[in-house]
Amino acid sequence: MKEPRGPAESTSRPISRRALLQSASAVAVAGMVGSRSLASDRPVDKSKAFPDKFLWGCATAGHQVEGNNTNSDLWLIEHLPESIFKEPSGDACDHYHLYPQDISMVADLGFNTYRFSLEWARIEPEEGFFSRAELEHYRRMLAACHEHHLTPLLTYSHFSMPRWFAFKGGWENPVAPDLYARFCEKATRHLGDLVGYASTFNEPDVPQLLEWINLPGMGADLTEMFRTGLGKVRKQLNAPEFANFFLGDGKKIRDGVLAAHHKGRTAMKSVRSDMPVGFNLAMSDDQPAPEDSHLAEKRAYVYGPWLEAAKQCDYMGVQVYSRSIVGKKDLPPPKGAETTQVGWEFYPECVEHVVRYASKETGVPIMVTENGIATNDDTRRVEYYQRALAGLKRAIDDGVDVRGYVTWSLMDNFEWMSGFEPKFGIVAVDLATQRRTIKPSGAMLGNIARRNSL
Ligand code: BGC
Repeated sequence: MKEPRGPAESTSRPISRRALLQSASAVAVAGMVGSRSLASDRPVDKSKAFPDKFLWGCATAGHQVEGNNTNSDLWLIEHLPESIFKEPSGDACDHYHLYPQDISMVADLGFNTYRFSLEWARIEPEEGFFSRAELEHYRRMLAACHEHHLTPLLTYSHFSMPRWFAFKGGWENPVAPDLYARFCEKATRHLGDLVGYASTFNEPDVPQLLEWINLPGMGADLTEMFRTGLGKVRKQLNAPEFANFFLGDGKKIRDGVLAAHHKGRTAMKSVRSDMPVGFNLAMSDDQPAPEDSHLAEKRAYVYGPWLEAAKQCDYMGVQVYSRSIVGKKDLPPPKGAETTQVGWEFYPECVEHVVRYASKETGVPIMVTENGIATNDDTRRVEYYQRALAGLKRAIDDGVDVRGYVTWSLMDNFEWMSGFEPKFGIVAVDLATQRRTIKPSGAMLGNIARRNSL
């Protein structure tokens, strides 16, 4: 994998730190306990150290934190009278305006990497119209990362899409891959020189994964839930073609997204051939049920095409939260197991197991680009991260090529259909005031990042 490049000449200059600070609003950042002064001066115990240049980061996704993503498919369906969303995203964390403080906070905590995503719906709000102003917004975000010595990991598509694209059938539309590739080309032309690592898609395997998942409270058949949801959405919009990343024919979505990945990647490389490009795969630590396990079938169906695609990439992002005991489908978590706010089992060892599997299957460098838990009890998050990182270290010590670890999420945010209730952040957000408060887990992870050592 090539080293990410720093800022270079481009059509527009990165903005200065002073300009960034001037544009920042007066929102307070409370409890900056993880700041540089806390950097541990303890000598690093070599047996606990991570490889040189290891990337330590926090992740967000545009629609979940920016707020007012009004041209997107999701904003539209969040506001339908019979919405499948618990609540609308609204201002979310107002990261669209508050990114200067947020990015500075990531660096102050001790991290060296920030993962965020573009909102295609802002950049191309009407088919064929590319907003230079919005591209400049993302350019300023990338510049802010460089100002703070953070390597930017840029996801070009994280679930949401422009409304016009969804009305044309989303990923099921035969021209979708070309429309996506055109967006990738324009975005890379404007932003590419500032990108550390690019990703074509966040969790492109989610439509397939949902067919296997079985969680208490979510019903046995999520696919059925989405099918009914799609019917409701189409009826309310009076739009029989409407489809998006979650709603539609899973197989057609997969084929469309896979083709879009290949074309998007080629488009990015045609502009900046040395930009590392990959994608972020949703993975579970799949373990066989004692009887009638369909584990191999699940892996082939859900991950198979993507593990193949990864072999042509510069790296693969792995996003893992828990384990699944795989019978005919995934079984619910074992009786008595601790579960998190979203019903997933508390199982931090999943990170170690999945990076080993992903590396073996693809042979490309692996980056953990999402990992974390939803809980109001931050002491559980602290334990989760400690155990997850101990496992990651074991894998690295055994020679698994892992280049970074990025936590989900920088801050509590809009958890899609579940709204703002699940708390995945290492930073709390008061939605009424937009005040950020760093949690002990954030300070702890930041210190590990700064030391590059457990
Ligand atoms: C997604 C995030 C999401 C997180 C927790 C991942 O599936 O990429 O957008 O918030 O998991 O559910």
